[in-house]
Amino acid sequence: MPDGFVIRDAVPGDRDAVLSFWPHPDRFDRRLASSVSGEESLLVAVHGDLTAGIVGIRWDGGCDDAARPLLYALEIRAEQRGRGGGTALIRHVAGLVADRGFAELTLEVEVANAGAIRLYHRLGFVTAGPHRHVWHSGKSCGIADVLIMHGGAGDLARR
Ligand SMILES: CC(C)(COP(=O)(O)OP(=O)(O)OC[C@H]1O[C@@H](n2cnc3c(N)ncnc32)[C@H](O)[C@@H]1OP(=O)(O)O)[C@@H](O)C(=O)NCCC(=O)NCCS
Repeated sequence: MPDGFVIRDAVPGDRDAVLSFWPHPDRFDRRLASSVSGEESLLVAVHGDLTAGIVGIRWDGGCDDAARPLLYALEIRAEQRGRGGGTALIRHVAGLVADRGFAELTLEVEVANAGAIRLYHRLGFVTAGPHRHVWHSGKSCGIADVLIMHGGAGDLARR
């Protein structure tokens, strides 16, 4: 694992540490509940004693295609970025996706997020197309212009 990142399922005790860099309590609670039911998976990357990152998998897919599990909510704690944690989380997710027999995974990235898009390209993701994502979270809602990207699960896991 690059630079000592350990990846495991999120548990309720991760809540405070995750919210310190990913301040979405409603989403954390909802996604943890979905991971207990098996509908989704929620993972954390731990570096020493520090909870350094989070990522989710929605097993019934994203906006483009239900046949490709969706990688979402990828975030590395700001001071831990650039050390391979994001790459490690993506590869770990790809391995889980491949283990369940899926050939590809999908993700959505905001068109303005050039750094993340560069990372996904470097890992072999290809752009499937633009998408206007309408989201709702509690009383909030909004529109985000995103790119839908696909990656080969087995290839990503092996790299
Ligand atoms: C995108 C993100 C998860 C990458 O995690 P990471 O641990 O820094 O990634 P890695 O160390 O494995 O790879 C580094 C690459 O990530 C990309 N990157 C994006 N934002 C970055 C940042 N703030 N710092 C460092 N790298 C960043 C770059 O392409 C970088 O490659 P480079 O060194 O060639 O520029 C992380 O930067 C992050 O949490 N960003 C904010 C949330 C976000 O944009 N999530 C993706 C939503 S689709």
